Amino acid sequence: KNEINIGLLGYGVVGSGVATILHNHQDDLRHKLGVPVSIKKVLVKNLDKKRNGVIPKEMFTTSLEEVLNDPEIDLIIEVTGGSSEAIRRALEAGKGVVTANKDVMAESGPELLKLADENKCDLLYEASVGGGIPLIRTLEDGLASDRITALTGIVNGTTNFILTKMKHENKTYEDALAEATELGFAEADPSADVDGIDAARKMVILASLSFSTEVHLDDVFVRGMKEIADGDLQLAEQFGYTIKMTGSAKKDEEGIEVAVEPVFVPNSHPLATVNNEFNAVYVYSDSVGETMFYGPGAGSLPTATSVTGDVVAACRNILLGVNGKRMHAPQFERKVKSDDQ
Ligand code: HSE
Repeated sequence: KNEINIGLLGYGVVGSGVATILHNHQDDLRHKLGVPVSIKKVLVKNLDKKRNGVIPKEMFTTSLEEVLNDPEIDLIIEVTGGSSEAIRRALEAGKGVVTANKDVMAESGPELLKLADENKCDLLYEASVGGGIPLIRTLEDGLASDRITALTGIVNGTTNFILTKMKHENKTYEDALAEATELGFAEADPSADVDGIDAARKMVILASLSFSTEVHLDDVFVRGMKEIADGDLQLAEQFGYTIKMTGSAKKDEEGIEVAVEPVFVPNSHPLATVNNEFNAVYVYSDSVGETMFYGPGAGSLPTATSVTGDVVAACRNILLGVNGKRMHAPQFERKVKSDDQ
């Protein structure tokens, strides 16, 4: 193979960031991989929309078939935020997929990973949790030999941004949410952020991976930002605390427990200083002890960096002829405390 061609599905906040990185860093990528990596087609909903960026107009299409049936396209990047259909069809067409789609990975991750295995394709999803923080790969590879017992952290950028602006800049909830939307941090329907569902999905992904246990969204105990009453932020401050929306997951002999909720964090704790759209996740494990991962949890270029990191990994596998050939397909056994067992 002397080149890798990509079909990009979606050209929103993340998709345009992916195109920018692949364009601006093309020489570095060619140097690292030994072959050029380029976007060949971009799937969008509306061809007439005015778009600035690095993609020539003729590359845009509204036909998923056109992208999937193109024999020159080796790899699909799915950043539409839509259903799992495009991912399934790409895998069935024998094309590896890189996705940022946390909704789909939280709901159907184990099944899609199995489908990827059956079709000897990669399905990589680093960007689904923690924006630009390389977290999934760390859990899958870096900590692979350790036994993770608990995770806790801030995994939603929008709610952290809102809480930061309310606390430090005296902004109203509405103004802070509008700003987060303007900056491209919030979901298309921001109730997923503020009601804790986006964080719950991310905790499903992290807990499933960390504990090799199939966790479902309705296993997660969720309390959203609405639970924070007027005056709570000031009250917390008076007593030396900061309110943060956190996710936590832990495992013991009886099973696992996962929760998303607003909590009082002592100001002396590092999580209290994680501000704006930044995320941070603590991992507790038997051998290494405590590790903490910190970085931008949302936004175009940080999230696109995780996507393109996966692209590099998938390209290496394609070039080595080992795409989709995991040592073992990930095993997800189910054992959660909320089960009636
Ligand atoms: N709406 C998400 C967040 C985007 O604010 O964290 C990144 O997943």
